[in-house]
Amino acid sequence: MTDDRQRWNEKYSTDDEFELPEEPIPALARWIDTLPEGRGLDVATGTGRNARYLASHGYDVDAVDVSDEALDRAAAAAEREGVEGVTWIRSDIDDFAFERSTYDVITVSFFAALDHLPDLKEALSPGGVLIYEHHLRSTDPIDLGPSTDRHRYRSNDLLRACLDLTILDYRERMRTDDEGRTLAVATLIGRNSTGGRQSYPPELDGSGGA
Ligand SMILES: C[S@@+](CC[C@H](N)C(=O)[O-])C[C@H]1O[C@@H](n2cnc3c(N)ncnc32)[C@H](O)[C@@H]1O
Repeated sequence: MTDDRQRWNEKYSTDDEFELPEEPIPALARWIDTLPEGRGLDVATGTGRNARYLASHGYDVDAVDVSDEALDRAAAAAEREGVEGVTWIRSDIDDFAFERSTYDVITVSFFAALDHLPDLKEALSPGGVLIYEHHLRSTDPIDLGPSTDRHRYRSNDLLRACLDLTILDYRERMRTDDEGRTLAVATLIGRNSTGGRQSYPPELDGSGGA
C-alpha cells in the first residue's frame, strides 16, 4: 500500500474532526451553466462532492482518489442521492493514466497537484475547462487547511502554472464556511483554447456596460 493510501485511509477512519463538505466548491456551482458538456474528471475526489455535482448535471465523470475509505463514502453518498454517472477510480494520482484530449471539465479542489498540471492540461478536450481551488499561505488567522505552509500555495503559484490556458477567472481571498471557519483560497477557472480569437463567457455577476 502506498504511503498516501495508508495515510489518507487512516485520516478518514480515525480523525473525527476531518469532514469534507457535501456541497461542491462554490466556483463549480457558479460556473456550471457556462461549462462545456460531456465528460468530467474530479482529481482527488474525496467524498465526491464535485464529481456528484457534475454527474447530477449530466456529465459522465471519472473520479479518482487514493483512499478506499473516501471512495466508499463517495459511492454511498451518490447512491443515497440517486446520482448515477460517476466511475469511482482508486488510484494514486502518480499512477493514473491521464487520457489526452478527453475531459470537458476537470475539477481539483484542496489537493496540491501543481506537478500534475501538464498531464491535467493535456487531458482537457479542446475548449475544456479546468476548475482548480486550493489553500493559500496567509498572515491572516485561518481555521481550515494544512497546518503548515508546505502544502499551501503562495500568491499566484496556481495562476503562473496555468498561463498557457485562457484564464477566465482567478481570485485569491478569505472565505468563511457555513460554520464560521475561515480559509484562504485561490480559485482558477482556465480554458484550453487555441488561437487569438475565441468566445468568452458572459459576466456572471450580471454587471453590464462597456
Ligand atoms: C483535502 S481532501 C479534498 C477532497 C475533495 N477534493 C474535496 O474538496 O472535497 C484531499 C484528498 O486527496 C486525496 N489524495 C491524497 N493524496 C493523493 C494521491 N497521491 N493521489 C490521489 N488522491 C490523493 C485524499 O485521499 C483526499 O481525499
